[in-house]
Amino acid sequence: MIISSTTDYRAAAQKRLPPFLFHYIDGGAYAEKTLARNVDDLADVALRQRVLKDMSQLDTSIELFGEKLALPVALSPVGLTGMYARRGEVQAATAADAKGIPFTMSSVSVCPIEEVAPKLGRPMWFQLYVLKDRGFMKNALERAQAAGVSTLVFTVDMPVPGARYRDAHSGMSGPNAAMRRYLQSVTHPQWALDVGLLGRPHTLGNISTYLSKNVSLEDYMGYLGANFDPSISWKDLEWIRDFWKGPMVIKGILDPEDAKDAVRFGADGIIVSNHGGRQLDGVLSSARALPAIADAVKGQIKILADSGIRNGLDIVRMLALGADCTMIGRAYIYALAAEGGAGVTNLLNLLEKEMRVAMTLTSVKNVAEITGDLLVREG
Ligand SMILES: Cc1cc2nc3c(=O)[nH]c(=O)nc-3n(C[C@H](O)[C@H](O)[C@H](O)COP(=O)(O)O)c2cc1C
Repeated sequence: MIISSTTDYRAAAQKRLPPFLFHYIDGGAYAEKTLARNVDDLADVALRQRVLKDMSQLDTSIELFGEKLALPVALSPVGLTGMYARRGEVQAATAADAKGIPFTMSSVSVCPIEEVAPKLGRPMWFQLYVLKDRGFMKNALERAQAAGVSTLVFTVDMPVPGARYRDAHSGMSGPNAAMRRYLQSVTHPQWALDVGLLGRPHTLGNISTYLSKNVSLEDYMGYLGANFDPSISWKDLEWIRDFWKGPMVIKGILDPEDAKDAVRFGADGIIVSNHGGRQLDGVLSSARALPAIADAVKGQIKILADSGIRNGLDIVRMLALGADCTMIGRAYIYALAAEGGAGVTNLLNLLEKEMRVAMTLTSVKNVAEITGDLLVREG
């Protein structure tokens, strides 16, 4: 199979993964309108082509929260990454590390913090959900701090899980789910051997460590359903801000008023995100939400953005719309599922190449020069 883009990696991932996993990654909430808009709205952003300015020297690096990033990109937190490739969090994190960008571990990863962090040359980022089980949250923060995690990504757009119809149909949840998953696994032998057999244990590593018992995939939906906390408000975040010593970034901001609240709260950054279209369907794409948020808070807080980025040109578009840095979810997960860590490395190299082409043809020599001036203003 010829691989030249995220689209190719998506197709390769679909071949390799049992359907319950592929659709868990690929799907979104309800009619998946926002999922589609994330990609389409970004692809519709037109940049001004500029030429003949000697673009032989380009710098794609940025400084963020005291860290140097080789690209204005970090890997978004993705739950169950160790189910898509053998010990997938380790493979994705080491690929990101080698490229010089941060990996963000999800709270609901397969590998625990302690399995991944020591293998990296740079500090990992860690994502925390607001869970009713505050004991877990405190324990996770203490362990993250002990493991040298630099940045805390606090996800706030999941006080309740979104309705994802594909999961019920695919066997991720719904009737006879365990039996359906088993049957799908044995008909996908490459995955069954690499991950099903050699990638064990299949537990939620961080939660299992905390509870001192294995929390399996079978328990995953139940645990999350029972533990998401709809009562959460800014007030509840204060103890975390006081407890956590490093930068704290709020993930799941889509409205300028919430962005201003994040500034008032004292967060170091926000991530403009709709969770990749997996939560409230019909909300604005990140690409469309971003400019108003940037107008409201740019310069007062670091603005990161994800949801819909599929190539290096999209990274430049998101920066031109107002982000200081971007994050990617499905793009690297498809590559990981298809080819493991080597796939993530290749994907990151592709993103860099595409970013360089976009920078060359818009005549920007470094990331600071990627501003709203690059946007074609219609009319
Ligand atoms: C399979 C999957 C699992 C995810 N799990 C988490 C998670 O555990 N925590 C979190 O904050 N976001 C999670 N997300 C959302 C991503 O962090 C990110 O916001 C989203 O994937 C960005 O959109 P993109 O996939 O279009 O790049 C998940 C996304 C996917 C696709």
